[in-house]
Amino acid sequence: MDSKERKNILVTCGPGLKDYLQAELEGLGFEIVSSHVGSVVIRGSFIDCMKLNFCLRTAYNVLYLLKEFRCGSSESLYKQINKLPWENIISPEEYLCVLSRVDTWSINNSMYPSLKVKDAIVDRINRKIGSRPDSGRDRNSVVVNLFWKDDKAWIYLNTSGVKLSDRGYRKMPHKAPLRESLAAGIIMATGFDGSQDIILPMCGSGTLAIEAALIAMNKPAGSLRSNFGFKHVKVFDKQIWEEIRNDVRKTIRKDAMQKRIIATDIDEQAIYAARQNARTAGVEHLIEFDVCDFSDTEVPEGEGIVVINPEYGLRLGDIEPLEKDYKRIGDFFKQKCAGYTGYLFIGNKLLAAKVGLKASRRMIFYNGNIECRLLKYELYKGTKQTPDNPA
Ligand SMILES: C[S@@+](CC[C@H](N)C(=O)[O-])C[C@H]1O[C@@H](n2cnc3c(N)ncnc32)[C@H](O)[C@@H]1O
Repeated sequence: MDSKERKNILVTCGPGLKDYLQAELEGLGFEIVSSHVGSVVIRGSFIDCMKLNFCLRTAYNVLYLLKEFRCGSSESLYKQINKLPWENIISPEEYLCVLSRVDTWSINNSMYPSLKVKDAIVDRINRKIGSRPDSGRDRNSVVVNLFWKDDKAWIYLNTSGVKLSDRGYRKMPHKAPLRESLAAGIIMATGFDGSQDIILPMCGSGTLAIEAALIAMNKPAGSLRSNFGFKHVKVFDKQIWEEIRNDVRKTIRKDAMQKRIIATDIDEQAIYAARQNARTAGVEHLIEFDVCDFSDTEVPEGEGIVVINPEYGLRLGDIEPLEKDYKRIGDFFKQKCAGYTGYLFIGNKLLAAKVGLKASRRMIFYNGNIECRLLKYELYKGTKQTPDNPA
């Protein structure tokens, strides 16, 4: 495998994050080949994959295409995969994990193709070298992804391994934390770039605040991770990796921020966790934490962004006690945040209606498999904002 050879790279993301991922890829200078609900395709090399893994905030996995082929049966799958020079890609001392997504008439169980791909790879390595890697479900070493649709199949090297949304800073989770890549997408959707004050009441374990601080510093999302899938393949070059990291690090804004990031929560434990997580992420100095009811959060004079991710209760009985909080959020927006742009990340339309303000925009995201909305409110000074039902 030639680490400079340009091939298709499939970058996957959570549903709802594709547009933000696309913007990130364009910002890094890549041309978009195509985009789909949960992925974007670009062209690039294995070395480009290393940089993408280091920089991308909204991606899950960076998959480097090894082979695309016609495939009508599991026997043909084995043969085609077995032809690839795996002995030049994976050392027998490594550990292999195969992931499959299969939608083809001839197979009704995605475990079986994974097993076939694994056998084809380890048999080849065994034949050429005399020993073979162990295999299983652990994604910490070499990960290979198979996509098989009808009679077409694609085999990718997963250069991320564990999903990139696992940044490594959330040592202390709290109630219902947002996935880091989703939090980054939400912050990107608000247009925050570090040149505005940003207020994050109900911050929980601090994910939104930490992602905002990372964006403000232009600190790469992957800078806390020491492990990536690409490090476990034979073409990995430590020196090139060092160079990539040093180049990217030159663009980190280390100078003190002129603007403020304020994160509060009513729960002392949440703020304890958020502070620890921010420390691990290296951004604690940029965030002002406070324990208070959201309505007592300090909102600096002028313009800025306020983002709230309240609990949204999944069962009917959970919703009623939350109604008054949503009404109070509407009051907080109107009374304390005039001049700001307000955002509410919610998973329940009925509760959103209790806010009593008209949203100027609704953006759809998914938190796990729950369809959520990021509602945008223009909180004009004076009387322009009228009570309305946004749902
Ligand atoms: C859905 S969680 C936020 C999760 C957060 N986005 C994260 O990624 O960790 C909602 C948070 O609102 C806090 N909360 C609930 N009622 C509150 C209130 N009245 N004032 C301030 N915070 C409150 C809870 O303690 C909880 O941490």
